[in-house]
Amino acid sequence: MSRRAAGTAIALALLIASAARADVDPSEYGTRSSLRSEAERQRLQRELSRERAVEAGRDAERRAEAAGRLAAEQARLEGRPWPVRLTEARCTACHPATNYSLADHALPGWWMVALRMRFMNDAPVTWGEMRIIARHLAETYPARRETALIEWGLAGGALAAGTWLTLRRRRRAMQSSDKES
Ligand code: HEC
Repeated sequence: MSRRAAGTAIALALLIASAARADVDPSEYGTRSSLRSEAERQRLQRELSRERAVEAGRDAERRAEAAGRLAAEQARLEGRPWPVRLTEARCTACHPATNYSLADHALPGWWMVALRMRFMNDAPVTWGEMRIIARHLAETYPARRETALIEWGLAGGALAAGTWLTLRRRRRAMQSSDKES
């Protein structure tokens, strides 16, 4: 057999083989494939709804956990001592708490801050609240030693000067009433 004849024979065989494959009934093939994809579709659907249910369960769990954390945090905040909550309520409306938590003051200085906040910045605090707040701040954020010396020194000096002025005014009043009589 020549090479050419062999080539023709092989080409012929390939042609027959492909014709045989194409002989499968296309309609039957189509039905099978749609049957298979329907089953597959349902399986995927089931899988999807199962996954959705699991995800919804996890979501609910996460929400419950977050609500629990929020409630615990609220209970913790409300459970803090009254002076802490009062100071936070009255002193964080205009500026962050770092304004006072980082400041360096002894009791007299904290009083001056509270007075300045009330009378120069219009902070809504009563005298009673200022007393609680000043004491709380002095205890919680104590001054450096030099600051405490200076502030107590100034406070003592002011008190002494005030006392001296008052006494002098009284003495003068007494002297003038002595002259009159
Ligand atoms: C109505 C607004 C307002 C409220 C409420 C307020 N502050 Fe202030 N605070 C200011 C302003 C404005 C400044 C910056 C100007 C100044 O120093 O006066 C300031 C500054 C400060 C400073 C930094 C200056 C300093 O003297 O060291 C401190 C500390 C401070 N505030 C503490 C307090 C405390 C304590 C309270 C609660 C009693 C309070 N503030 C409430 C407005 C407010």
